[in-house]
Amino acid sequence: MEKINSFPKGFKWGAATSAYQCEGAALEDGKTDNQQDVINREIHNDFGYADASVATDHYHHYKEDVALMAEMGFTSYRFSVNWSRVLPKGIGEPNPKGVEFYHHLIDELKAHNIEPIVTMWHYDLPMALVNKYGGWGDRQIVDDFEYYARFLLNEYKDKVKYWLTINEQSIVVNYIDRKNKISKEDAYDPKYRWQCNHHMNLAHAKVCKAVHEIVPGGLVGAALDTSPFYPETSSPSDVMAAKNANNFKNYFYMDAYFKGIYTESVMNYLKRQGLEFEILEGDMDILKQGAECFDFLGINYYQSQCVHKAPHGASRRYKQNNKIGKGGSITYEIQPDLFQGCKNNLIGETDFSMPIDPDGLQYMLEEINDRYHKPVMICENGFGGYDVLEKDGSIHDPYRIEYIREHIKAMKRAIENGVQLISYNPWSAFDLLSTSNGIAKRYGFIYVDRTDDDVKECKRYKKDSFYWYRNVIKTNGKNLE
Ligand code: BG6
Repeated sequence: MEKINSFPKGFKWGAATSAYQCEGAALEDGKTDNQQDVINREIHNDFGYADASVATDHYHHYKEDVALMAEMGFTSYRFSVNWSRVLPKGIGEPNPKGVEFYHHLIDELKAHNIEPIVTMWHYDLPMALVNKYGGWGDRQIVDDFEYYARFLLNEYKDKVKYWLTINEQSIVVNYIDRKNKISKEDAYDPKYRWQCNHHMNLAHAKVCKAVHEIVPGGLVGAALDTSPFYPETSSPSDVMAAKNANNFKNYFYMDAYFKGIYTESVMNYLKRQGLEFEILEGDMDILKQGAECFDFLGINYYQSQCVHKAPHGASRRYKQNNKIGKGGSITYEIQPDLFQGCKNNLIGETDFSMPIDPDGLQYMLEEINDRYHKPVMICENGFGGYDVLEKDGSIHDPYRIEYIREHIKAMKRAIENGVQLISYNPWSAFDLLSTSNGIAKRYGFIYVDRTDDDVKECKRYKKDSFYWYRNVIKTNGKNLE
């Protein structure tokens, strides 16, 4: 029996997107290439997936998109700024048209009473910086990220209250060469990703301070990919593997954000494995100062994961997504002597092999609250699947409605148990490029008519979930039917 009938007053309902996955206009109005433009061109050549040059053409449809969000009743919208659109060289001279685009987008949102939640970095470093020094592996990025962030904060401080520094730092570490345009040498260097992670933590911490310095009443967080890791069996070694995985994949990142520390057991493991990274004098103070300014955690939740003990002598490998959808599979992660990922046979999954587990969201939310006692915002959650545009322009997506409904119920239960949840922003407001499966894997409430091969006109259509979500918002989460 659910005890909460509706969500707290003022709870924000919306959805999320990221710049390179939806904007398109990749080389228009002064924007230069970012690393995702380049990586997605390569993916297009290798797998035939749509690239980011047009994506779902939000750059030219933003007014229509915001009007549709307003029609659904959104009170929040999480989007990211395309760094190379506003600062084509990474730092220095801004691009007036790029800067103006985000003013227009934010103004349009505010005119419809939609709170903008701005992510500063969603995987898209300007190629200008990548060509100069490689990216997150070089300490110079800490200063350049701060420069970029301060530019955004000064520019939009009167219009934007909620800021997110980095999207899914743990995913950047896992998929180091998919999320970054790096050399083969760096990709194969086992320490490289951990050094990048340290630089991301430093950049994030500096920017947390900057938000409080520059934005009156500004609040800052980061959007982190989170999954609870369950033991495959009740064998103590599997339970230990799950504990290790939770520390390694979740709390190592959260401890840095919330407390400005590195989780001791993970640091000892990295040292034992010869993966320690360089921490300079004063770095931990920077992390601590950042943690003091960290206001809320943004969580991206799609799935839970299952682990067992890593077999003796197994070599390290990182998780790989299902790259082809139906009929494809995923490669599970192995961290030697720590854990090995495996399938959870007790829950269902999507065509793209994502386990579906609404209880896992409640578990994660409550874990975060019990450990850190700070507000949480859901910055992503959603169902990636094949949608069919019918001849009459309708799209029937009961699977998406079912997925989101069950996750909203889980949110309600978590709130009942004390979680301070401030906003729900499922992925995605409208269809956009998937990071792993092109445009065929769709997440939006709004269908965008294009395929991987044919850009067409990117016409927008309302899915069944559009009408359903509109009713959920209208009743502040009370009516989920
Ligand atoms: C999150 C990312 O990892 O998951 C998004 O922040 C991404 O950028 C989303 O699109 C869904 O993953 P995918 O691979 O299905 O696009």
